[in-house]
Amino acid sequence: MNEDLVYLNGEYLPQARACVPLTDRGLLFGDSVYEVVPAYGGRPFRVSQHLARLDRSLAAIRMRNPLSHAQWRSVFERLTEPLRGRDHSIYLQVTRGAYPVRNHVIPSEVRANVFAFCMPIPPRDPVVATRGIRAVTLDDIRWHRCDIKATTLLANVLARAQAGDAGADEAILVRDGQVMEGTASNLFIVSNGLLITPPDSPELLPGVTRDLVLELAHEAGVPFAHATIGMAELGNADEVWLTSSTREIAAVVELNGRRVGDGAPGPMWQRMDDLYQACKERLRLGSECHDE
Ligand code: PDD
Repeated sequence: MNEDLVYLNGEYLPQARACVPLTDRGLLFGDSVYEVVPAYGGRPFRVSQHLARLDRSLAAIRMRNPLSHAQWRSVFERLTEPLRGRDHSIYLQVTRGAYPVRNHVIPSEVRANVFAFCMPIPPRDPVVATRGIRAVTLDDIRWHRCDIKATTLLANVLARAQAGDAGADEAILVRDGQVMEGTASNLFIVSNGLLITPPDSPELLPGVTRDLVLELAHEAGVPFAHATIGMAELGNADEVWLTSSTREIAAVVELNGRRVGDGAPGPMWQRMDDLYQACKERLRLGSECHDE
């Protein structure tokens, strides 16, 4: 029980009673931003980093965060409290709010709608984790502010559908010959022992998992670089990974129908995945890992 609990504008309600009006601008215009925060054993992971990104997304769409970080933390606490011991993700969304007149102009007087709830993270499928995933490359048709974690995700949804049609688990999006990220994940390649991820830019989301991977690489003495990745480099990479709060670090073993490396998750993936899993385990046992 209580996966059913929703935080909505200061109240805690069962999902069925948590409603926002049809005139909400999040619904009408996709005028809203969101975060997905994993919680392992009921403990939210990398909260400061998710809240900092939420602040940046809100500032970019000319909004202030309606809640303080302390208030967000207490919302997370209350939502995850009944779920102790289990893995969940906390979904939160802040919309510009409901306004009676549908007009593209941002109303000066409008009150944000704020909601959050938990979703179970299915236990990691050991087969998928160890066998890896398939990906295809697709043209990136998204806008030029992919650094904002906006709910306006139709291009991502359609790309994922197209990947599914091709029998793949994820699409890797390519803009002007440069590989950016997945539809809901960041991209890494391993080339001659060097871990590479595309640099921060308005064309991709600065992933919290991506930052953690880089921190873990730094601590482990794994050489890494932020660098643009072209199609040829992607095709010749020894390893390709996709990272996100829900996928963690997924090894891509097949790209556009061709094997990546020897067609199995590579040794660098194994090393980083071990470090990542150890981090999660420490959080489950109560010691914060890389949180602040
Ligand atoms: N998405 N890039 C995009 C486009 C994403 O949507 C996501 C995450 C990421 C990875 O970010 P992070 O490591 O902070 O989760 C990169 C979430 C999980 C989602 O939309 O469900």
